[in-house]
Amino acid sequence: EASQGHISVVLLGATGDLAKKYLWQGLFQLYMDQVSSGHSFTFHGAALTALEPGQRLMFDVLKKLTCPPDESPNRCAVLKDQFLKLSQYHQLKSAENYTVLNREIETLLRQEGLKEAGRIFYFSVPPFAYTEIARHINSSCRPPPGAWLRVVLEKPFGHDLESAQQLAADLTSFFREEEMYRVDHYLGKQAVAHILPFRDQNRQFLDPIWNRHHVERVEIVLKETVDAKGRTSFYEQYGVIRDVLQNHLTEALMFLTMELPANVSRAEEVLQCKLQAFQSLRGLDKNSAVLGQYQAYASQVQEELQKAQDYISTTPTFAGVLIHSDSLRWEGVPFLLTSGKALDERVGYVRVLFKNRAYCTQSETLRDAEHSQCKAKQIIFYIGHGALNAPAVLVSRNLFRPVMPEGSWREAVGQSDLHIFGQPLSDYYVYSPVKERDAYSVLISNIYHGRKDFFITTENLLASWAFWTPLLDSISQQPLRLYPGGVENQHLLDFEMESGEVAFTLAEAVELLNPNRL
Ligand code: BG6
Repeated sequence: EASQGHISVVLLGATGDLAKKYLWQGLFQLYMDQVSSGHSFTFHGAALTALEPGQRLMFDVLKKLTCPPDESPNRCAVLKDQFLKLSQYHQLKSAENYTVLNREIETLLRQEGLKEAGRIFYFSVPPFAYTEIARHINSSCRPPPGAWLRVVLEKPFGHDLESAQQLAADLTSFFREEEMYRVDHYLGKQAVAHILPFRDQNRQFLDPIWNRHHVERVEIVLKETVDAKGRTSFYEQYGVIRDVLQNHLTEALMFLTMELPANVSRAEEVLQCKLQAFQSLRGLDKNSAVLGQYQAYASQVQEELQKAQDYISTTPTFAGVLIHSDSLRWEGVPFLLTSGKALDERVGYVRVLFKNRAYCTQSETLRDAEHSQCKAKQIIFYIGHGALNAPAVLVSRNLFRPVMPEGSWREAVGQSDLHIFGQPLSDYYVYSPVKERDAYSVLISNIYHGRKDFFITTENLLASWAFWTPLLDSISQQPLRLYPGGVENQHLLDFEMESGEVAFTLAEAVELLNPNRL
């Protein structure tokens, strides 16, 4: 069975929050999916903590691994047992520790007579530790020629163009570009990951309308109810633009605006087209953004960071940014990226709204908004939470009936009383994933398959920072409007946002985000 070779997975930060919450579960899912692939696996959890108590802490996490509802409980229980047996803890602190780890991997391969396929090193550690770990892996833990090395890195990847360049330069002295897998977990969200395949499979319908003549506007939204309490030492340095817009929302924007490559399953082509889309973005300035801060933020910062009572934070916890592309296809179309903490609801979506007003206002008989032709025409990649509380793709029935990949997405039987963006669910074709998977499971599977288009290349990262850094520089001293947080965030309505010919007041922007409007 092991003819395909052996894969060693090393999870650094094995007892940290991310590992506990998602990564071990994602690795277990990988094991369940690939146990019959012909590959054999070992899983090495590592942290700075000594063997005891590190080992115990790690196994406490492993014992809590759960089985997905689509998996048979018996099979899952057996596999969980095996997974635990294949997992071991290592203290990785000194250079010597890395040498020992390497020796243990080699010994195991030799004893079992296994050929080595590759090694995955997952860095679930703060970026300041990257360089040191990278140096050790490069000098002591590289697999022999013929086997691959994949290192997986978690954000933040710098806080502006210059620091991102520096970090990238540091890493490139240890790893080749094809060895690095930078995670943006939104690329693993099933609805986001389906944007390109959806565009590809529906070329016939979308080709004529995926442009400025037919698209009225696009909203890319991540609203959160949680605030920054407990993590202000991170948040105070980053703020909502660096935390969420520069990465998660921008990536979704790129999948939407990029030209479709001839073959969307070729990572190289996808990455190339994505990079070109960055080049078409019009530069931002401080007038492109509305910024806010929830009222309790200042006192949370004062308390957690022991700042004086009169300390003023200029870190935005809410941003609405209006973006334009100068490409022939998208010129003039407003792309509104919005995210905030302590808002009234938790929801994430990418919503493409098509024009249909001209047609409707011209025709007497069609003027009635109830007429199917005059209802809003939209495509929504529903990332999750909110009213649907699940990932989904929605297409207005008066637009077209989309082609969805059989086996991975199925038509959902919707609750008829639900309204999404002011319309009953029955107005849409609604699709949901056959197997719901969290973003990290999706990404770990793609690391295993070597699918680099699910990750952020150095060029992509720097292009994104080059786009956002001028705005970040220009707003660094800009006063913020305070909002109360929670359900009463109507105070946000006082902002104004203007850019070029299209002007949004935030009242409109927030109204756009109101799930009960069209
Ligand atoms: C993270 C941010 O990258 O994404 C968090 O650092 C944010 O501040 C989170 O809350 C949102 O992700 P999700 O998966 O909870 O929507």
